[in-house]
Amino acid sequence: MAYILAIASSPSHPSRTYSILQYASNFLEQQGLQTDIISVRDLPAEDLVYGRYDSPALDESRAQLEKANGVIISTPVYKAAYTGVLKAFLDLLPQKALSGKIVLPVATGGTIAHLLSIEYALKPVLSELGARHILSTVYAVDKQIQLQADGSLQLDAELEQRLQDVLSEYAQVVKHFQSFTKELARIG
Ligand SMILES: Cc1cc2nc3c(=O)[nH]c(=O)nc-3n(C[C@H](O)[C@H](O)[C@H](O)COP(=O)(O)O)c2cc1C
Repeated sequence: MAYILAIASSPSHPSRTYSILQYASNFLEQQGLQTDIISVRDLPAEDLVYGRYDSPALDESRAQLEKANGVIISTPVYKAAYTGVLKAFLDLLPQKALSGKIVLPVATGGTIAHLLSIEYALKPVLSELGARHILSTVYAVDKQIQLQADGSLQLDAELEQRLQDVLSEYAQVVKHFQSFTKELARIG
């Protein structure tokens, strides 16, 4: 079964981006994919700040990433870019950690004006990490995402449809890519 790792990178809790990942994870599992979500805020802050490449606390995340066929990288827009904690985490990954993975960026922001921040800020970093297959970004603004007091998520209809369309395509691409790489390995 194809495996998707979703990375949440808001320092806040509750978090709109984290909730979108939960939605995405449920949706993808219904499409027959296995998923996990890791939240960078759960990793030891000192390891991130001091750039401890050898931190054992990162071993599990690195192992999950290594076996993933697809990676969803989510971030709130902070100061017209991605969050600092996301960069601190990405800096601790191996040089080509995203090589051979299908990557889907997901971002939320207070304003649509920063939609392109993912293109000019995040995508070059993903590319440096070896990502060569990056699907189109899902970008949502705060007013489209309502977090209810009971923790449930209410998405604006346009966003929900767009998210479902992108996730359906993502599931297909990841499954095909996994079959393709398996076949390549088989024929040597
Ligand atoms: C420190 C900080 C900086 C922010 N900078 C921007 C920004 O430059 N552009 C923008 O559109 N939204 C900005 N926002 C708004 C967040 O991107 C937005 O509220 C997002 O949905 C929060 O996601 P979260 O609930 O997952 O943390 C900023 C929020 C914070 C806390």
